[in-house]
Amino acid sequence: MPLDPDSSLREVLNLVRTHNRWRRLETINLIPSENVMSPLAEYVYLNDMEGRYAEGTLGSRYYQGTKYIDELEGLLTELMKQLFHARFTDVRPISGTIANAAVYAALTNTGDVIASVPLNSGGHISHKTTGAPGVFKLKVVDLPWDNENFNVDVDAAIKLIREVKPKLVILGGSVYLFPHPVKELVDVVHEVNSYLMHDSAHVLGLIAGGVFPNPLDLGADVMTSSTHKTFPGPQGGVIFTNREDLIKPIQRAVFPGLTSNYHHHRYAATAITAIEMMKFGEAYAGRVVENARALAEALHALGFKVVAENLGFTRTHQVLVDVSNLGGGAKAAVLLENANIIVNKNALPWDKGFRDPSGLRLGVQEMTRFGMGKDEMRVIGEFMARVLIKGEDPGRVKREVIEFRREFTTVKYGLTPKDVDIPVTIEMLL
Ligand SMILES: Cc1ncc(COP(=O)(O)O)c(C=O)c1O
Repeated sequence: MPLDPDSSLREVLNLVRTHNRWRRLETINLIPSENVMSPLAEYVYLNDMEGRYAEGTLGSRYYQGTKYIDELEGLLTELMKQLFHARFTDVRPISGTIANAAVYAALTNTGDVIASVPLNSGGHISHKTTGAPGVFKLKVVDLPWDNENFNVDVDAAIKLIREVKPKLVILGGSVYLFPHPVKELVDVVHEVNSYLMHDSAHVLGLIAGGVFPNPLDLGADVMTSSTHKTFPGPQGGVIFTNREDLIKPIQRAVFPGLTSNYHHHRYAATAITAIEMMKFGEAYAGRVVENARALAEALHALGFKVVAENLGFTRTHQVLVDVSNLGGGAKAAVLLENANIIVNKNALPWDKGFRDPSGLRLGVQEMTRFGMGKDEMRVIGEFMARVLIKGEDPGRVKREVIEFRREFTTVKYGLTPKDVDIPVTIEMLL
């Protein structure tokens, strides 16, 4: 049956409206890799830069018409350099994965060995052969992992780095409860003429707020990141380095290597987010970590097996729960979705594979931005316990979740269009 354009149009618009209402107003979102922009950042996100090209590097473009894009890219670069104490920053990668790929393209050669955190312990797919390293024909070895400390095993990692001499050592990950040992490993990495890269995708906002150690300050050669997880900007990527010898190869890898347009319309929203982090980052990031602890403690008290109890559960936005005794991560995540609590299933370090993950990975950054505090974390814990431990009907809990969420629909720690007096949207110019 051919599609009817008019009914398809209605369907498109309805899907967006329904999605927006559901995810923005009616669900408790605990996906740790997501967030919401401030009203001002969201307001400037749709702008004419969306459809333009500025191929090349700042100061050396292949197109005319880019003078304001250039100024904005320059300003964003300076803001990000200042916020993250970096001498050099490339804001053009369109995602964290592209940022990582650019570093591989710049710093490694086909056949090189790199080392990263095991997948089940939080290493991201873009650190593994199934992802970008495989595309670049790199071999990947796992860094030794210590379940007791829920962290990289420093002594064993030093031994491995001396033996294998990987060209690049990657710290940071998707499950990230405690800071990885940048300071402890950087000397041995340099001793074998390797580079240390820290993937800060998950913790960039916490670094900006000063509650998570800045890997660049600790000696990392390169820091990559997404710009939309704890750093609550639009989806995008960024690369930082303090090394003058690395920035040119990295820039060449971004263009002409891996991208041709950089989705410039996100620059303004990213810059606004950086400014907001300068103004409100400390309060936001502090509250995020406080809330994560509160959620972990609440879940623990309610009978959940929360990972890393002996270590104080978490120093980030994340909480990891072992739900193997409650039917496993996949089943638990679906039951919670039926109650309008959005989480993702996740493998735990001691899982055999990652097809049947035992865990749930929770992140409190978005609900914190909507103004929730420790009391609300306890309420969320109770909703989860009713669905997963007491076996209550998720549909019934869902009605209460929607009611509860009604009080938390305004984004905090950010600016709104009312805070400024310069109309910028295309609609307002016509
Ligand atoms: C540690 C880490 N690095 C990189 C990425 C990829 O980021 P993006 O989705 O921006 O490509 C993720 C995604 O969640 C991540 O967790």
